[in-house]
Amino acid sequence: MGKSVYLSKGAVCACVVLAIAAVATIIGLAVVYDREKSKNEQTATPGPTSTPIPTTPSTPKEPWQKYRLPDSLVPISYNVTLWPRLEPNKENLYIFTGHSAVIFRCEKETDLILIHSNKLNLTLYDGHHAKLTGLGGATAPPLSETRLEIPTQYLVVRLKSPLKVGATYELFTEFVGELADDLGGFYRSEYMEDGVKKVVATTQMQPTDARKAFPCFDEPAMKAVFHMTLLHPHGTVALSNGMNHAPVNVTMDGIDVQRTSFDPSEVMSTYLLAFVVCDFSFIGSKPEEDVLIRIWARKKAIEERQGDYALEKTGPILAFFEKYYNSPYPLTKSDQIALPDFSAGAMENWGLITYRETALLYNPGVSSNGDKEWVATVISHELAHMWFGNLVTTRWWNDLWLNEGFATYVSYLGANYAEPTWNMKDLIVLNEITGVMGIDALASSHPLSSKEEDIQKPEDISQLFDSITYSKGAAVLRMLSEFITEDIFSKGLQTYLEEFKYKNTVYTDLWRHLQMAVDKAGIKLPNTVEEIMNRWILQMGFPVVTINSKTGEITQKHFLLDPDSVVDTPSPFNYEWFVPLTWIKNGGPEQQYWLLNEKDTNADLVLGSSDWLVANINMKGFYRVNYDSENWEHLLTKLSSSHRDIPEINRARLIDDAFNLARAKMVNTTLALRTTKFLDKEVEYMPWKTARNNLNYFYLMFDRSDVYGPMQAYMKKQVTPLFNYFKNITSDWKDIPEKHTDQYNQVVAISTACSAGVAGCKELTTGWFREWMSNPDNNKISPNLKSTVYCSAISAGGVEEWDFAWSMFKKATIASEAEKLMDALSCTKQPWLLNRYLEYCLDPQKIRKQDATSAIVSIAGNNVGQPLAWDFIRANWRHLYNEYGGGSFNFGRLISGVTRRFSTDFEYKQLLQFKEDNAGQLGSASASLEQALEGTKANINWVTLNKKEVLDWFNNEASSTR
Ligand SMILES: *[C@@H]1O[C@H](CO)[C@@H](O)[C@H](O)[C@H]1NC(C)=O
Ligand SMILES: *[C@@H]1O[C@H](CO)[C@@H](O)[C@H](O)[C@H]1NC(C)=O
Ligand SMILES: *[C@@H]1O[C@H](CO)[C@@H](O)[C@H](O)[C@H]1NC(C)=O
Ligand SMILES: *[C@@H]1O[C@H](CO)[C@@H](O)[C@H](O)[C@H]1NC(C)=O
Repeated sequence: MGKSVYLSKGAVCACVVLAIAAVATIIGLAVVYDREKSKNEQTATPGPTSTPIPTTPSTPKEPWQKYRLPDSLVPISYNVTLWPRLEPNKENLYIFTGHSAVIFRCEKETDLILIHSNKLNLTLYDGHHAKLTGLGGATAPPLSETRLEIPTQYLVVRLKSPLKVGATYELFTEFVGELADDLGGFYRSEYMEDGVKKVVATTQMQPTDARKAFPCFDEPAMKAVFHMTLLHPHGTVALSNGMNHAPVNVTMDGIDVQRTSFDPSEVMSTYLLAFVVCDFSFIGSKPEEDVLIRIWARKKAIEERQGDYALEKTGPILAFFEKYYNSPYPLTKSDQIALPDFSAGAMENWGLITYRETALLYNPGVSSNGDKEWVATVISHELAHMWFGNLVTTRWWNDLWLNEGFATYVSYLGANYAEPTWNMKDLIVLNEITGVMGIDALASSHPLSSKEEDIQKPEDISQLFDSITYSKGAAVLRMLSEFITEDIFSKGLQTYLEEFKYKNTVYTDLWRHLQMAVDKAGIKLPNTVEEIMNRWILQMGFPVVTINSKTGEITQKHFLLDPDSVVDTPSPFNYEWFVPLTWIKNGGPEQQYWLLNEKDTNADLVLGSSDWLVANINMKGFYRVNYDSENWEHLLTKLSSSHRDIPEINRARLIDDAFNLARAKMVNTTLALRTTKFLDKEVEYMPWKTARNNLNYFYLMFDRSDVYGPMQAYMKKQVTPLFNYFKNITSDWKDIPEKHTDQYNQVVAISTACSAGVAGCKELTTGWFREWMSNPDNNKISPNLKSTVYCSAISAGGVEEWDFAWSMFKKATIASEAEKLMDALSCTKQPWLLNRYLEYCLDPQKIRKQDATSAIVSIAGNNVGQPLAWDFIRANWRHLYNEYGGGSFNFGRLISGVTRRFSTDFEYKQLLQFKEDNAGQLGSASASLEQALEGTKANINWVTLNKKEVLDWFNNEASSTR
């Protein structure tokens, strides 16, 4: 699956610089926390006072009580016909009907057929839910009993005598299911077009919802060929994995419909199936191309040419991967479709990729360059899966990290090919790696790789879709590709894909092929690929490597953000890693060395009195670096004298490492703050963005205290040159900077400058906004700058600006535009406007239910709005819980979002009180409440420990002339 929304936000919106990165981390934390909690619940004793009941571990006795299919039967092919109804029936229910025949072979003698089926009503034949036929001369044994086993989602078919080994049979079922709006299985999506409600029938099977569309052996290793047929209303089109044939007119149950059949699929897994019925239109590649590429979307969106960018980039990205994998695109066509309702970012269904609209459509006049980058990377991610994941599939979900981590890593290579000037290969550090390090530094993190037997239930599988899987997976595969070289990495991939095409693997199969490529190329490694990688995937976390430049001593240690946290997850490697250490000394060539133990010495790392050294070049390795104080001083001197001698990524890393080492009490906070001093000369994006992300915590802790004034004065001093730089290169804000990352950094410059009160900034943004207000039909604000300009103008303005933005929000027809305005409305400094906006959040006519939580969280992100939002939540908890508690994932964000600033005993007590008052009414928010309590405590400690030091430092800096 493409990344979920929470990842997309963190990665893309360079706009609301402060708030969003933090939200991404918090949600990431919530996922980790949930995992930890469920892990504990499984092993927990019932209560503190009761004696532990010796739990009869409910080891399932019967095959149908086990979540995994037995290996006695293997599917060969399916023949499935489905008919979704796009209008409700008499009971006001949207349904689909269908029938399916699966041909399977008996591999081991058995008198039991288990096949997945969930939420389907099956037709009875002679009292049984299915019909069995023998093929090729085999006779089918009579059925003795059929029934549905709800917990494990099986149709259970028991036979009077066993099936014959080697024989093939056909099992036929007919069924009715609900075409619900639940975003899983075969579901419906609705949207308005020209005042008419339109219904789309579409699918999301991954991980375990194909069984909700028709009975099937729903495990990734149960690959088969699928013959699909769809019945659909006149005026609609039907799509599936295989190419659609011309529709035929038929009459079914007295209704005239069209019947579309499809080319049979390749041998494939059920979770990659897709079918869609809609009245969309498309744009396609030229007929002379080898592979037919079609981009599908709402008619309006295609008319407005919003699919053009996706069409333009799909061909080149496919060509890139054909070369990278040395393997032709496995199918004859590639359909990609943008859906109005879709839960993840996108889904790599083989031949019919489904997307959120924001992940496939791009609107040049309206969307920002961040929106465009998102489209390019998501397309690249999904196309990478067409081989890695679809052609060759891991055997079970415990290896999901390999599938998703890999696609995440190579999506940057594909996007880099499609947009060579964007620096995508560097941006992976900021977009994926920096953020996930924050999560993986918690004691409650988890290893990338899980054991097959630990992942059983659908819930176990769903929990794996977290940022560790995607982003850390990408980081360690990138590290591997870097130390064996990208060329050898792709050579290993090529033989891996060749050996296992149309089959299934475990992750060690990839290591074996990479090892073969390494050996063939004669690359020297200190251990095998498998031994090295085991350290990174079988234990959680990552090391901090400390270099002593006086003695040449190098040590490694498990990095924990909270040094007092207790790690109770045991590691097979005692939290030691094989670390590919790289460094540059005095701007010389890059050097490499393997740190294989906890401690080592290397004379090359000893420095003379004026030497400097920076390690982990371009963040190729997944670890942090600390130095002795002399080298830190030399690095700070270097940064302030000629910062460009240190590579851009490493300038950003020095900031990020220092701030995180300070949180972990390994360096003092003053040192971290000093790494931002050179920013008055820095014009590149990555260092600035990294500094902003890290300083965000200081704003959260101190923007209501006496530190705020001097901190603002310091920021103003630091950002003024950057603001002037952009003013200059854009000829007084008239041009768009040429470089992609400059476009991002221009946003950082304006948002930082305006919030720090740089002269001319507010006037600028307010001026642009005023111009729009005087001519509402002609918004001339550059798309990249919209978020920050809206926010800044509304923050500086009053009710007039607010009401104008509100009316534009209500009128917006493009989702991303509405989102930007909705966020900006929370930027006002007027308490009464914020309170009114909070009230609007409870009125679904004003703020859609799906958006209420994020609006409240944005309001709490504003320091004036924070106490108002907290009061509001407390006053309305019961209502919020009843009306909004269902959309569980977002609901937890409410608590974490509103309590991010909490850092006093008084606030801690309020939280405890809130917990007591609402016991039993917290639902999915209870995990985030516990986390908020923990976080508040950590904040109290941090503020107590650091406030004076921070205040003194900012005071000193603010008063010193440069
Ligand atoms: C699939 O079933 C239909 C009848 O529902 C039949 O006409 C068709 O030949 C079958 N296709 C295959 C490939 O078995
Ligand atoms: C399935 O059967 C149940 C029980 O009769 C009924 O309540 C439900 O509406 C049926 N579902 C569909 C989609 O027809
Ligand atoms: C199928 O039905 C549609 C709508 O009734 C009609 O326009 C079309 O000509 C028919 N096609 C054929 C091949 O009969
Ligand atoms: C921070 O560390 C530096 C060097 O280790 C030291 O000189 C300085 O006094 C420390 N500052 C504080 C406030 O502890």
